[in-house]
Amino acid sequence: INWIEAANYDELSKIAANIFKEELQKHPEMVLGLATGGTPEGFYKELVEANKAGEISFEKAQSFNLDEYVGINAANKASYHYYMDQQLFNHVDMKNDNIHLPEGDKIDLQAAATQYDAKIEAAGGIDIQLLGIGVNGHIGFNEPGTPFALGTNVVELTESTREANKIYFSSIEEVPTHAITMGIQTILNAKKVVLLISGASKQEAINRLRSGVITEDFPASALHNHSNVTVIYTDVK
Ligand code: F6R
Repeated sequence: INWIEAANYDELSKIAANIFKEELQKHPEMVLGLATGGTPEGFYKELVEANKAGEISFEKAQSFNLDEYVGINAANKASYHYYMDQQLFNHVDMKNDNIHLPEGDKIDLQAAATQYDAKIEAAGGIDIQLLGIGVNGHIGFNEPGTPFALGTNVVELTESTREANKIYFSSIEEVPTHAITMGIQTILNAKKVVLLISGASKQEAINRLRSGVITEDFPASALHNHSNVTVIYTDVK
């Protein structure tokens, strides 16, 4: 793992955006792996600005998001699809057909999950996967205890994750109980991984990841099994 310490959140966002910008400039048809949450908001702002300034184009690019809740769609303001529309897709020249998120509103969720991996493969695989990390080490919605060998799958959310995410809903009852997430194997299949870690609450996660111990109790530790991972971190949010 290649560790980059950023002086502050702004710098973290810029460093991450530059990695994607350079790849897009070299390979405009790149396949992006994207994440939601608070951490990448500054990163998306940088990409939107670079697109508006004509530095990069998403016209030929494709994207696959890590995860999506079950039972809500892009029209729901708490869905990850809605988040992505607001943060990135509505502001850049990306084609709708090239945007992919797990389809949490399908009846056959398991089939939707399996097809997602097939779509990623058909696109040639993910070139760079962006990740955030939960305080418990989750990546995507892969909570502690998840077998590293899983592909995209349907998961039940833990109470702590539902609690952490309830700020995006009007009450805890409205937070979905399930999600579809890329599995850890799906993430490890990406050619390159960029993990963003910001904020004091994540310090312990940084320490555990740095310790180098690989265990399913700490999902992000699977990244030690990948040969091209960059972690960009900062203590200040
Ligand atoms: C988001 C995702 C999650 C977040 C993680 C950190 O698509 O899969 O694993 O990356 O929960 O979230 P923030 O950035 O809000 O602290």
